[in-house]
Amino acid sequence: MAQINGCIELSVADGIAVILADNPPVNALGHAVRQGLVEAVQQAIADASVQAIVLGCKGRTFFAGADITEFGKPLQQPGLQEVITEFEASPKPVVAAIFGTALGGGLEIALGCHFRVASADARMGLPEVKLGLLPGAGGTQRLPRLIGPEKAVGVIVAGAPMPAKMALADGIIDEIVAEPVAGAVAFAKRVLAEALPLVKVRDREEKIRATRADPAAFEAAAKAATKKLAGVDAPAACVQAVRNAFTLPFDEGLRAERDLFMKLVVGDQSRAQRHIFFAEREAAKVPDMPPGVKAAAIRKAVVIGGGTMGGGIAMCFANAGVPVSIVETTEEFLQKGLARIKQTYAVSVERGALKQDAMDKRLALIAGTTDWNVVADTDIVIEAVFEEIGLKKEIFGKLDRLAKPGTLLASNTSTLDVDAIAQSTSRPGDVVGMHFFSPANVMKLLEIVRSKHSSFESIATAVAAGKLLGKIPVVVGNCDGFVGNRMLARRTTECERLLQEGAKPQDVDAVVQKFGFPMGPYAMGDLAGLDVGWRIRKGRGVTAPVSDALCEMGRFGQKTGRGYYIYENGSRVPVPDPDVEALAAKKAEELGVKRRNISEQEIFERMFYPMINEAARILEEGIAVRASDVDVVWAYGYGWPVWQGGPCFYGDLVGAKKICAALEHYAALTGDAGLKPAKLLQELADNGGSFGNFSLTPKAAA
Ligand code: CAA
Ligand code: NAI
Repeated sequence: MAQINGCIELSVADGIAVILADNPPVNALGHAVRQGLVEAVQQAIADASVQAIVLGCKGRTFFAGADITEFGKPLQQPGLQEVITEFEASPKPVVAAIFGTALGGGLEIALGCHFRVASADARMGLPEVKLGLLPGAGGTQRLPRLIGPEKAVGVIVAGAPMPAKMALADGIIDEIVAEPVAGAVAFAKRVLAEALPLVKVRDREEKIRATRADPAAFEAAAKAATKKLAGVDAPAACVQAVRNAFTLPFDEGLRAERDLFMKLVVGDQSRAQRHIFFAEREAAKVPDMPPGVKAAAIRKAVVIGGGTMGGGIAMCFANAGVPVSIVETTEEFLQKGLARIKQTYAVSVERGALKQDAMDKRLALIAGTTDWNVVADTDIVIEAVFEEIGLKKEIFGKLDRLAKPGTLLASNTSTLDVDAIAQSTSRPGDVVGMHFFSPANVMKLLEIVRSKHSSFESIATAVAAGKLLGKIPVVVGNCDGFVGNRMLARRTTECERLLQEGAKPQDVDAVVQKFGFPMGPYAMGDLAGLDVGWRIRKGRGVTAPVSDALCEMGRFGQKTGRGYYIYENGSRVPVPDPDVEALAAKKAEELGVKRRNISEQEIFERMFYPMINEAARILEEGIAVRASDVDVVWAYGYGWPVWQGGPCFYGDLVGAKKICAALEHYAALTGDAGLKPAKLLQELADNGGSFGNFSLTPKAAA
């Protein structure tokens, strides 16, 4: 065996050269890997004893793609396209041995091989669009030649990986094997024995000929794939590149793909999406966590309260294969909750998103009871009862008495003081907040609220539990609204003011949607139910005159057919309502607020800058330890468009100076001192600093 360099080795046995990469953790195709691969394949080709070549990887996966950390930096030769050309041009057959995840450049290098085999559990795809990119190493030219441009455009624009079985059916791979390298070696021997021809994917024309003659089906597929993605650069570039696959000769298509890739990679949208990729992986790391702290295993779970959130949380456990019991107050509420869970699964089955047997398996993992003794034997309890501090304290007292030592006691509270909840037990170290977002079985974000008592073991267990449930855990500090809702409150305040000052819900929603949010704030309020905020305001003795008046009229949003908008006959489509404008005008008059035309620019600034300002306060106070954590919260909990990078990333693009100036203006305009620039934001403005470079030593648990 020859060690080509630190990450590539080459061995030859029985006429078959095996090239293996070893670049943990995911065999990203960084510079050293690319260099080693070229050298290895050249040596194998030059070696007269070698008749065929196998390309594989050590560790947990086949190449998971280009090394994303190299993007935006000067390319060190050889580039991936050059590496692939070396393999493709080999006069000796090359077989790729795929396992784990062959993604992006990883699949592209496999497509440059003459044959591909994969283990049954392998997944492969071109997810570059999720990083604001397109496959930049021939993927947009080779995949359409294998599966046809119509299918390829859908696969590339969605960026979702496919299982090996599907890849086999589509002709992306040639065989499913039990063990990747051994299977590839056996396959290579068969190629030699049967003298199979070496057809390069680049030379295959059969799947693109028909599209070239009549591209109508391709254009329809492209339109369908990009329907909801107006204004996002990468999907449009993917479509253009795939179109090139049947309109341009291969080499020209490849060059055009490179040009499109280079344009995207230096753009703000891709920078933003790469930022979110790394931010997401960073968010669960707790900087002051001592080494060696271990998360406890989660084998059984209990959820207290089977309402909207409790039901969704129980589904998360069942989806992850963990048995879960729901505790309710009465048999009636319990049955209602269980029926709602069943109904939610049934809808997924109807839509084809879930198989009936999978639904049955998941339902079998969910039990319900009114007997609290079930708490005695569980690894984690998540409380999701009404948002009342007295009730929560009572429940945690009970959990303290019943749960075995070491059980993680978590509350799904969205506003209450987790320190106070923890203090109602004799083991406050075991208590954390686990703030799921609605619908809990769908939304990816999980804010893990660290109280001043939470032990490192509890935090580590909560993070591990979140990952087990497929969530993106972000560890945050304890304060009113934590990170997400605390920032949202700033936007909600401006929503109320803008209506009084003369803006219409549809105008404000349009501005927020144009930025890329799936919904504007009023449509969102109508969906969630306006009564939720109304109740909280009443409890706190605060008012929002327009919103309060709507609630007093019984206009709670979609569920009552009217809110900020009208929803006729159960429709979910918001229809603007002149009565709301009249109501806002009336309230403005009563309050002495002068109404005026409000520009799109002003609406934009008032929707986003106060939230960015609140993010700065949250960082100052150590409630979030990284600006990128705030971005993850908004991207995964509130629909902040990933190609806009999150509030702090976006704030850096605008610049702290500009935001501070605008905030001073709006603070004077509204008389709200809370709109004045936060200390940190002002510092960034004064010193030319950025959220991206901000760092803070986290508040240690007191
Ligand atoms: N480049 C650099 N680092 C990468 C990476 C990549 N392509 N993929 C993953 N990593 C890093 C992660 O940042 C993480 O680092 P830390 O441990 O320091 O946080 C580590 O590898 C492990 O990653 P995960 O925690 O995500 O591990 P996982 O097992 O949950 O998932 C994975 C593995 C499915 C491969 C996932 O990491 C993933 O989806 N990676 C990105 C794949 C991708 O987008 N590939 C296309 C790249 S673009 C491209 O290839 C362009 C082109 O055409 C040339
Ligand atoms: P919900 O009203 O739908 O459900 C609460 C359930 O708790 C009810 O089924 C009730 O019967 C049950 N319950 C009440 N007292 C109980 C007791 N002593 N023992 C057992 N069960 C009891 O409320 P929802 O919306 O599910 O909220 C629950 C918690 O989740 C609240 O703390 C809320 O702030 C929080 N939350 C809610 C979100 C939402 O969008 N609805 C989002 C994130 C958090």
